[in-house]
Amino acid sequence: MRVTTLGLVTDLMLARWSSDVLDRGGYLIVRTPREPDFWMGNALVVPAPSVDDDAGLWLGRWQGVFEREHAGAAHRALLVDGDVRADVEAAVDVAGWVMQRNVALVATALSDEAPPAGVEVRVVRGDAAWAQVTALALASDEHAARVSGGEPLDDVYRAFVSARTRTKRAWCEAGRGSWWGAYAGGALVGSLGLFAQDGLGRYQDVVTHPAWRRQGIARSLLCAAGRDALVRVAKRVVIVAMQGSDAARLYRAVGFTPAEVSSELLRRPR
Ligand SMILES: CC(C)(COP(=O)(O)OP(=O)(O)OC[C@H]1O[C@@H](n2cnc3c(N)ncnc32)[C@H](O)[C@@H]1OP(=O)(O)O)[C@@H](O)C(=O)NCCC(=O)NCCS
Repeated sequence: MRVTTLGLVTDLMLARWSSDVLDRGGYLIVRTPREPDFWMGNALVVPAPSVDDDAGLWLGRWQGVFEREHAGAAHRALLVDGDVRADVEAAVDVAGWVMQRNVALVATALSDEAPPAGVEVRVVRGDAAWAQVTALALASDEHAARVSGGEPLDDVYRAFVSARTRTKRAWCEAGRGSWWGAYAGGALVGSLGLFAQDGLGRYQDVVTHPAWRRQGIARSLLCAAGRDALVRVAKRVVIVAMQGSDAARLYRAVGFTPAEVSSELLRRPR
């Protein structure tokens, strides 16, 4: 299968470094045996439904393929190479799946944005610094769960976030990219990763501590990491955000241009 959307092209670029990606012709299988709780790392990549596809049949077909290719998985996850029509979205919803539209945004140049006073931006290095990266991700997720009235984070989720950080640290240590931190004194208050291959860069996990938001920390991290990559290893840098999100608006304001939409379909374990 030839994947065309920049979001999925760069997802797969990263996935191939630590997951198995198999091409079955009409679709791709992504498997991450070391991270069984990483739903999007244990997924199918499928083409977007065509105008002639019946919504229910389309979903039923890919659900069947997922169940065959990921036998025993409690979740179902489809990464769709494009947008999904409203009637397909409705069928997905009725069947108990959750759908998210993601927009890829691209930049070939970024301005130099200083962090706020008292904050320093630098590359994350060493065990203690990486432990802060995991703690920051969990603090942000805990805050989001509290604000939305969702369930508090459980140990399975905490272990999943730690495993994801270990994977990304391994990519950095293999020379595939860098993790950047914004530090206020010794505290990590914002971070993100940026990885590249063959001139194409891809950001990961942009986060600012809930108590430090709306001060320009993400903006300074995005620009510092992007400028560094554009000088050394990338002709273009790509970032992916939920369509219509605050993050997508911020990326546009920083100088990224929206490209295509891809979609994620997920049915959580019951
Ligand atoms: C999205 C996120 C990373 C933004 O981080 P941030 O450090 O608050 O971002 P910035 O401060 O650079 O910019 C955010 C907003 O603050 C504004 N801002 C920047 N400096 C400011 C200042 N000194 N005073 C007031 N507002 C300011 C920016 O213009 C921007 O405005 P907007 O929301 O209208 O676009 C943060 O909200 C977050 O961690 N969210 C949860 C995780 C997440 O969703 N990550 C994105 C995944 S794609």
